Amino acid sequence: MITTPESQASNGMTTITRTINYVKDYDTLSEMAANIVRKEINRSSTSILGLPTGGTPIGMYEKLVKDKSIDWRRVKTFNLDEYVGIDPNHPESYRNFMARHFHNHVNIPKDYIHFPDPMCPEKYDDLIAHSGGIDLLVMGMGSNGHVAFNEPGTDMLSETHITDLKEQTIKDNSRFFNSIDEVPTQAVTMGLRTILGAQKILLLVTGKKKLKVLQKAIWKPDYNIPVSIINNHRKVEILYCD
Ligand code: PGA
Repeated sequence: MITTPESQASNGMTTITRTINYVKDYDTLSEMAANIVRKEINRSSTSILGLPTGGTPIGMYEKLVKDKSIDWRRVKTFNLDEYVGIDPNHPESYRNFMARHFHNHVNIPKDYIHFPDPMCPEKYDDLIAHSGGIDLLVMGMGSNGHVAFNEPGTDMLSETHITDLKEQTIKDNSRFFNSIDEVPTQAVTMGLRTILGAQKILLLVTGKKKLKVLQKAIWKPDYNIPVSIINNHRKVEILYCD
């Protein structure tokens, strides 16, 4: 693993050093991500996790569900987002994705598993706050720099809300559906402020195309590259592989 300092920003009295951990392959990235989640649960068995979907975290979930030593009974999860207008039984609804890759294989009580509700998005931030706030939030990044489904141009102060998906996102996600016409055009997503409210953020990024976007974003905050919100958070760990 090579650790390269990527940017340094002065923020009042504090200097924030942002590093991308370049890891050798996807398996290593997944193992390292799983280790960070394990460490969080070892720190506190009542940890509250923010969890992503998409292709990137699948390896991490595979590692976590194989590890039968983790006791998930007191862990709570808040997923970052969900499509709007998708049949909950559709295999690509994020509830189903999570059930298939993670929730069905661990002993987290059903009522500790949360997804944002398109009927009342504003309640999600309250629910997170009342649960004690997110300890560790894991997220991927879209090819246009979106995080959760906060597309370019999203307000930095946004909380959980409904959003129109950009054409690029619909195109990227069409690989999971039979045709591009099946991809929902809206989603309900944690906002950028919701994400920044987490105690710690773990960002997982794969592929050279995304690396270019990420490298631009960690030099300076950019309204059009939502992942650049990481510049406003003091505990971000970034794992990258080609
Ligand atoms: P991906 O999506 O992991 O499927 O590339 C990431 C994202 O859109 O956040």
